[in-house]
Amino acid sequence: MEYREFGKTGFKLPLFGMGTYYDPGWIAAAKLLKMKPRSELHLNAIITGLDQGVNFIDTAEIYGTETLVAKAISGRKRDEIFIATKVWRSNLDYDSVIKSCNGSLKNLQTSYIDLYQIHFPNKRIKISETMRAMEYLVKEGKIRYIGISNFSLRQMLDAEEALKTNDLASTQMPYSLVDGKIEKDILPHCRERKMAVLAYYPLGHGKLGSDNASLSAAVADISRNHGGKSLSQIALNWFYSKHENVFPIPRASNTVHVTENVGSVGWRLSMDEISRLESTISRAK
Ligand SMILES: NC(=O)c1ccc[n+]([C@@H]2O[C@H](COP(=O)([O-])OP(=O)(O)OC[C@H]3O[C@@H](n4cnc5c(N)ncnc54)[C@H](OP(=O)(O)O)[C@@H]3O)[C@@H](O)[C@H]2O)c1
Repeated sequence: MEYREFGKTGFKLPLFGMGTYYDPGWIAAAKLLKMKPRSELHLNAIITGLDQGVNFIDTAEIYGTETLVAKAISGRKRDEIFIATKVWRSNLDYDSVIKSCNGSLKNLQTSYIDLYQIHFPNKRIKISETMRAMEYLVKEGKIRYIGISNFSLRQMLDAEEALKTNDLASTQMPYSLVDGKIEKDILPHCRERKMAVLAYYPLGHGKLGSDNASLSAAVADISRNHGGKSLSQIALNWFYSKHENVFPIPRASNTVHVTENVGSVGWRLSMDEISRLESTISRAK
């Protein structure tokens, strides 16, 4: 596995982390149709990633997967794993942030969270109140770093200003080959402030298909140049080849996909290959 600095934290993290949001639609349908729950499959996928050095996991109180993460990391050295979780947008008043954090610590069976992220902004609660609670949690040793998610640049600047004794470590935003919206303002700002970016939907939420003929042709050529890499591996490598501070967090529900994703590291796309990929796709900007 290859590792790189996570913003200004001094931590070195693998080039990608493991997302753990399994679509609730599937969970509900499985219950309805009495299908076998897939949590064993998900657990094995996370363990397979950990075994291959992907010691960076993203979850959230709203996902219902913190207990799964706890199972996956049990018996491993806690300081060798970086856990990112999130507080939901309705829990952003001071007392609720503390309560949510304690709930996540219990679910995760750990005494601290590496990165605690505000899942979505909430206009009805002052960011200064939320950040006061976040800084209290840092002081108490319950969280190490503070992050945000789904904040506009304006909201991000307000979040940074609201912090008195800590820097904002990261933001988490949708970003991929098919969605380049954050390139116009958030990415340049994060680069300048040495902040990490967690890219969610890095595989286009599973829709980065080869239904686009020119993308398929580009992927086939690029794959030949790099020993037969797959579309997913190329799409993940695009992040590492293009940026120093962006960490995609693909979700993989099975061991095959996780292992394939591990094969996205250890090599780089050329500038020409990056341009070709981007020009064959109509990117949201
Ligand atoms: N902050 C936020 O508001 C927010 C919102 C959404 C998501 N997230 C985070 O971001 C993570 C990723 O988002 P996402 O899961 O929705 O989208 P994604 O990672 O772009 O796409 C997931 C899809 O890609 C498939 N996949 C993974 N590896 C593959 C491979 N090697 N080959 C082929 N297909 C592969 C998965 O299939 P299988 O599942 O079958 O392996 C799944 O269908 C989430 O798990 C969550 O942690 C954050």
